[in-house]
Amino acid sequence: MPSSPAALLRTVDDSGLPERYTRRPDVARSDLERALSTAIDRIGENLEAFYDQFPGPSSEGLVYEPTDNTEGWTTAFWTGLCWLAYEVTGERRFRDAAQAQLATFERRLESGEVETHDLGFLYTLSAIAGYQVTETERYRSAALTAADHLADRFWDAPGLIQAWGDIDSPEDSWERGRMIVDSMMNLPLLFWASEATGDSAYASIAERHARTTARHLVRSDGSTFHTFKCDVESGAPLGGETAQGYDADSCWSRGQTWAIYGYALAADYADEGAYANLSARLANYYLSNVEADHVPLWDFDAPADQTYRDTSAAAIAACGLGELAQQLPLADARARGYENAAIATLGSLAERYSTDRSESNGLLSDGAYDPTDGDYDECCIWGDYFYVEGLVRATEHWSRYW
Ligand code: GLY
Repeated sequence: MPSSPAALLRTVDDSGLPERYTRRPDVARSDLERALSTAIDRIGENLEAFYDQFPGPSSEGLVYEPTDNTEGWTTAFWTGLCWLAYEVTGERRFRDAAQAQLATFERRLESGEVETHDLGFLYTLSAIAGYQVTETERYRSAALTAADHLADRFWDAPGLIQAWGDIDSPEDSWERGRMIVDSMMNLPLLFWASEATGDSAYASIAERHARTTARHLVRSDGSTFHTFKCDVESGAPLGGETAQGYDADSCWSRGQTWAIYGYALAADYADEGAYANLSARLANYYLSNVEADHVPLWDFDAPADQTYRDTSAAAIAACGLGELAQQLPLADARARGYENAAIATLGSLAERYSTDRSESNGLLSDGAYDPTDGDYDECCIWGDYFYVEGLVRATEHWSRYW
C-alpha cells in the first residue's frame, strides 16, 4: 500500500490512470456554468480597453496592459476569447471586437512577420475561428497564407518544423533544426489547410512532425523534453534542451500539456489510434504528477524553493483531456477517466484560482509564463483562453477551432 499522500496520488490503475480519476469528481455542472458566465462578464468588461488591442502575454499584479498585435505568439488568445464569448452569448459586440482584431492579423501577415512556428497559435484562434463562425472568405485566405508560411519551416531530412528564428539561420545557431513540444498545437493549422484545400501536403508535414516529436521529444516514461535539435542535412538527432523548464532533463508541465492536447487533435485529423494512445500515455504521466488540487507545478522536477504552480498548464490539460476522452473508443474505460480529470481540473480552477474577487482584468491567477525569468503567479492570456474553452467544452455544444 502507498505510505505517503504523494505516493497515494501516484497510484495508478491498470490503464496507467491514477486511481482518483476513476471516480466522477464532485463538481456540479451549475458551478461550471456560473464560472463561464463570470468569465464572459469579465471579457465584456475588457472589450473597451482591448477592442483592437491585446492583453498580455502575462499580467503585472494580475492586470494586463494593452499591446499592439506584434507580440510573438499570444495575441490570438484574446481574439479566441472574443469568438467564444460571441458564440456563447450571441452578443454582437464580441463579434465586432474579434473582427476589428482580425484586421490587425491580416496586416501582420502582410508585413511579413512570419518567421515562427507560432503561426498556428496566431491564425487558428483568429482566422480559422473567424471563418468558422462568420464564413468570411478573407479569413480563410489569411489562414491558408499562414499555413503556407508554417509549411515553409519544414526540414525534410529530420522531418521537423523549426520552431524559432529565420529558417536560413546559420548552421551553428541554436535555432537551426530545433523543434519544440509546443509545436504540437500548431499542427491543426496544417491539418485544417489540407481539409480546406484538398491538398494533402500540409497534413503530410503535420504527420511527419508529429512522428518526429514522438521519436525525440517524448521520453520512455511518458514525460517530454521542451526542445530537441537535429542536423537538418543528415537528420541526425543532436539532443534535448529546455528553454522555459527547470533543466534539460526535467519535464516542463506546460510543454507536457501542449503535447497531450496536440496528439489528441492529431488523432482526430489523422484518424490514428496511435496518436490517441500517445496522448493517453502523456496524460498518465501528467495526472500521476499533478498536485492534489489538479494543478501542476510549472515543472514536475522543480526544486523545493521554486514550487510555483502553472494554472495555464492546467487549463490546457483540461481541454486536452476532454478532447482525448472524445478520441478514445466509447467502450474504452480510460475515456471516462480523462473526462473526470478534465472536470476535476476545471472545478479546481474555478473554485481556487478565479480572479473574480481580485482587482484584476484577467481570469486565472497563478499562471507561470517563465519562472526562469521571474514571471510567475500572474494571469497568462493563453491560460485564460483555455480555461474558457474548457468551460465551454464542459457546458455547451461547441465546434472546436483547432
Ligand atoms: N508556447 C510558449 C509557451 O508555452 O510559453
